[in-house]
Amino acid sequence: MENQLRQCERRATPALLAVLVAGLFASTTAAAENTKTWITVGDAAFSQLKKSVPNILAKESRMLRTNEASAKVAATEKVHLVEVDEETLLKLSKAVHHELKRCGGYAFHASEADGRQALAKQAGMVTAAAVLRPSYLIDNQTTVAPVLSQMQASNIGATITDMSAFINRYYTSTAGRDASNWLANKWTTMAAGRSDISVTQFAHSGYNQKSVILTINGTDNASEVIVLGGHLDSISNSGSGETMRAPGADDDASGIASMTEALRVMVASGYKPRRTIKMMGYAAEEVGLRGSAAIAQNFKTNNVKVVGVMQLDMTNYKGSPGDIYIYTDYADSLQNDFLAKLVQTYQPTLTVGYSACGYACSDHASWHNQGFPASFPFETIDGDDNPTIHTANDTYASSGNQAAHALKFARLAASFAIELGSDGPVVVVPDKVETFTGSLTVGQKKTFGPFKVGSGGSFKGETTGTGDVDLYIRKTSVPTTSTYTCKSDGASSTEACTITMTANGDVYVLLNGYKASNYTLKVTYRPQ
Ligand code: BES
Ligand code: ZN
Repeated sequence: MENQLRQCERRATPALLAVLVAGLFASTTAAAENTKTWITVGDAAFSQLKKSVPNILAKESRMLRTNEASAKVAATEKVHLVEVDEETLLKLSKAVHHELKRCGGYAFHASEADGRQALAKQAGMVTAAAVLRPSYLIDNQTTVAPVLSQMQASNIGATITDMSAFINRYYTSTAGRDASNWLANKWTTMAAGRSDISVTQFAHSGYNQKSVILTINGTDNASEVIVLGGHLDSISNSGSGETMRAPGADDDASGIASMTEALRVMVASGYKPRRTIKMMGYAAEEVGLRGSAAIAQNFKTNNVKVVGVMQLDMTNYKGSPGDIYIYTDYADSLQNDFLAKLVQTYQPTLTVGYSACGYACSDHASWHNQGFPASFPFETIDGDDNPTIHTANDTYASSGNQAAHALKFARLAASFAIELGSDGPVVVVPDKVETFTGSLTVGQKKTFGPFKVGSGGSFKGETTGTGDVDLYIRKTSVPTTSTYTCKSDGASSTEACTITMTANGDVYVLLNGYKASNYTLKVTYRPQ
């Protein structure tokens, strides 16, 4: 059992091993009944599975972009949907652990249908419902700044200490169930005297640990919801079942504690959001994002208008030179830009960097997979992260008995909650379309604009015509043929390029007659 939980090579718990280990830890009766499990695995893991079980067949395989097209790190991977029984998982776990060098692309699915849907969605075959896009304007300084100044690392430290005092918070153990009840009680006590705040526990099928959900009802825009989350469960390679020692101080008491400190100051200041704010402590993250997957699916089914999700999972170990690293995979790039701006505005001395897990490594992926805008600000660059996670040594002491790093994430969480929480309803403004026609001689240039373009939208320019027109688009000022935000300069007059807007701004277009041309220019954008 010893190294079972460690990440292939460097990090504890490779995605695939997590499920294998979940199989190992599952009750013996489950194994005896040969319970079926659906997983999606990357190529490397699948080849390994085939070596051990030659007749294993993928029910479906697809080439997937593992990242958003706009993400800073991009990759493509073939992913296979496979049905395995827990007995097979038990047999396979050792071989896979020894030989597999790279894991990833794994996810657990409750049924074959769920697995197929997840593959199809990630492959872009299912059109996601239109994302409800908030404005991302930062315009609540007078509310946010005083709240942030009240936040204290010592409170975060106290919550981490309390949570890591549970022998473990494993999803099937008594202590794991108790830890959920403890968090529900803590949040309930913190919300005492506020009839607009409620705490519920979300029960899951197959295990006793419940997710905890605190809700601050919005005043006049309650149907739009903001979600902050972290996972309340823990896991480790030290012992098993009831007596497993899994303090999970960084992973993820730190995330829950950061969120809890944000809650404390929001309540202390009497802040009442216009949108509904939900804080979630997810169950069973460490065994395949199960708690968050069930909740995100439930919200999707009930058409809950989730306008933004932030995941806090590991916030207190400073293993890289910078402060906050925004993970770009299974995440929304426009919301990520908003996070970077929140840090710039409210914690200007901090640095923001970017990294990626390369697979669905935490609960933000559950929301992303349901089409909701999600972000995952993390403590380090991937690879510099806390080496003690998933061991008995993931204690508060391992982060130096202080929570200075986690405080940065608590402040980011509070600024996210209040800036998004203070808006009225998303107004769906139809795109504006304008067309211009004309002609250009060789080398002749013509500019168009400014177009007043709204935040969160895009600006698309398209040309058709005779001859050869080249298209240049630029934010803020008039483009030249060497300075532009995007260009399209093929050998005809059929050109197109699109820019995205993360703030309201002016956009200009330049057309250059590479040859004598007649053109039609069409611009499509979200107006301010
Ligand atoms: N907190 C970790 C994820 C993590 C660890 C992200 C290190 C970045 C760096 C999370 O609790 C976890 O262990 N996730 C599993 C995957 C999950 C699907 C079981 C993992 O990373 O293997
Ligand atoms: Zn975690």
